[in-house]
Order: sequence, then C-alpha cells, then structure tokens
Amino acid sequence: MPDPSRLPRLDAFLLPKGVYLDGNSLGPLSYGAQAAIERRMRQWQYHGVAGWDDWFGLAERLSGALGKLVGAYPDEVVATGSITVNLHALLATFHRPAAPRHALLATELDFPTDVHALQSWAELRGVPLRLVPSRDGYTLHDDDIDAALAGDVAFALLPTVLYRSGQLLDVRRWSGVARERGIVLAWDAAHSIGALPHHLHDDGADLAVWCSYKYLNAGPGAPGGLFVHRRHHDAVPALRGWWGHDKATQFAMAPTFTQAHGAGAFQLGTPPILALAGLEGALAVFEDVGIHAVRERSLALTDHLMARADALLPEMTVVTPRAVQRRGGHVALAHPEALRLSLALRRRGVIPDFRPPDLLRLAPVALYTTEADVDRAVAVIRELLDTGAHLEETAAPAVV
Ligand SMILES: Cc1ncc(COP(=O)(O)O)c(C=O)c1O
Repeated sequence: MPDPSRLPRLDAFLLPKGVYLDGNSLGPLSYGAQAAIERRMRQWQYHGVAGWDDWFGLAERLSGALGKLVGAYPDEVVATGSITVNLHALLATFHRPAAPRHALLATELDFPTDVHALQSWAELRGVPLRLVPSRDGYTLHDDDIDAALAGDVAFALLPTVLYRSGQLLDVRRWSGVARERGIVLAWDAAHSIGALPHHLHDDGADLAVWCSYKYLNAGPGAPGGLFVHRRHHDAVPALRGWWGHDKATQFAMAPTFTQAHGAGAFQLGTPPILALAGLEGALAVFEDVGIHAVRERSLALTDHLMARADALLPEMTVVTPRAVQRRGGHVALAHPEALRLSLALRRRGVIPDFRPPDLLRLAPVALYTTEADVDRAVAVIRELLDTGAHLEETAAPAVV
C-alpha cells in the first residue's frame, strides 16, 4: 500500500552535492534504479543471451506501474522510445488528413522537438502546421487554444505542463473539445509524469507521450513512453517494427506483422534493457508513496517557494500560474539576468536551470527536496542580487 507519510524519501536517492532543483530536467539516481541496473548487468555478465528469457517482455511488465501514474489501463501504455520517436510513430498513424480537416496544430511555446516532429509531417503530407499563439510569451490563454482547435485541424499536440512557465493545461477539457470537433489530440506529458496524477483514460485523451528522465528519475536517455486510448486500439501502426509484433509469435520470425495488443504495437526495435532497468527501479518509489501524495507535497513546496520569492525576490517575477489546477511541479522566475544567475547558483551548489530568454526554473521535487533546500536557494539568489556577483559569470556551458 502506498504510504504518503514517507515523503520526502531522502533515504531513497543518491543526490548530487548541494541543493538539487533540476529534477524537471534530469531526475537524480535512486538506490532502486542503481540496484535494478546492476541486476540487469549481472544477468548480462552471467547469462549472456539467455538474459533475454527475463528481459523479453520487461517493458510490458512495467505497464501496470506506468498506467497508475498516467491513469490508464496497462494495455494503453508502454515504456518505449523517446518523445520524439514516439511522436513520429503516433503522427504517422493518427494524423489522417481528410477534407475538410488536414492541418497539424502545436503551440508557440512547445519544446522544439515537438514542433520539429509536427513540421516533418506537415512537409511529408503537404499540410499546414499551425501554432497556438501566446499573449505573454510564457503561457497559453484558454480562448486561444479554443480558437485554434478548430477549422481544418486534424491532429493537435498540446503540452500537459509547459516546459518553461510550468503552466498546467486542462487535459479533460481540451480532450473533450478536440473529440467533439473530430480532432485527434496528443499530449506531451514530459513535465507532468511523476509530478502529478493523470487520468488519461477517464479524461478521454486520445494519445500521450512522455520521457522518464525527468520526474520519474529513470536516468539520462532512459526510454520514455506512450499512451493510446483503448478506443484507438484497432489502429494499425503506420510505422512498424518487430518489437510491436504480438509477443506470443514474435520469435516465429514471420515476415507478416501481427500487431501486439494495445499500445505495445507502437514499439519499434529492441529496447535498451540497461536503460529500461533504470526505469524499472525508479518506479518502485512511486509505488511506495503514491502519486497523489507526491502532488500534495509538490504543491506545498512550490507554494513555499513562490511565497519566499514574493517576499524576498521582488526583482524577479513568478511567471508560473498560481492556481493549483494551473501549475505543474516547477516554478519559473523571470529576470533579465536569469542565465548568469543560473550559472552563479550552480557555482554555489544550488542547481537550477535556465531557459531562454529570461527564465530561471526551480523544481523542488516532492521525493527529495526539503523546505530548507528552497530557503537556501532563495537566500543564495538574494545574496547574488545584492552583491551582483552573478554579473561576473561569462562563459556559458553547452547545457545550462
Ligand atoms: C516538453 C518536452 N518535450 C520533449 C522533450 C525531449 O524529447 P526527447 O525525449 O525525445 O529528447 C523535452 C526535454 O526536455 C521536453 O521538455
């Protein structure tokens, strides 16, 4: 049984030194992930190819835990690919241009890979790509989403949580609107999976994709995942690979494709078992505490952070929406010197990140961040703003 009183779980993580507030970019290593990866390495060492007796079907065995995190039946999810690859696989199948609907829709504030993927299909299929505009450069307005989900749009992609501002969109509302209008709507849940509960099945979402290296803490480049609602399970994947074949007959090696039941049919090639093991181990902590408790504590931490920022950092603007139903797991503070603040903070052992043009992102994560960590981060930012020491930062590393 999940035990919500067990948060934070500082005993479960091998945290980098200092105050780690970048788990919305790369979650830290957990003992669970470490042990699972080591176990899979030992199987490789001792059993060689016979390791596949256990590894075959590993992705499918994670579907129960993943399904709980996104509010889906196990056959609606699969751990596979990356957001980019999974988007291509879903676009190939579910973007079905037919008059009068043919266009693709993303938003002006999407993570670039989302727009790149949609742009590829817009070009391949000779249809327009439209973007929901932003009025303030940080958030999306409901009226603009409503207006954009219209006309000739056949397939739309929206973020559950916007990667810069942390704005949370209403999955149930927009999934319903899209369905009523005959639009297939996919969600990029990169910034919400592992940070808050989802109800993808009951909310009527068509499709979703996510990565597992952020709030799920599965490790750099670990396989992401995808969701396909049961009402779409009769769809034949347009991009096929042998890992999407029915498991019972996959090794019969027939040239004909008999698709696996459900979301598993959208897998392509052999899964990276060591990386998948990171996910396998990392999911255990969510099973222990439950995603509802994670959200409750995350909200308390982000409340605390925003209150401290309001009180102590008047030079910075909290661009993350305040309402609980409108915000994800991180807080974004706008400041013209956000890049140099981010670099100076890192040098002082506080790890945030920077997103252009002017955002410092701070993610106090329920599983391993304390109020004292938040206070320390705010105190260091205050000190930098007072002394101007961040203005000495010049060289920008490749990933900030
Ligand atoms: C919203 C969003 N989508 C996609 C990605 C990256 O996609 P991929 O996992 O394919 O590299 C990120 C990475 O940070 C992201 O924040």
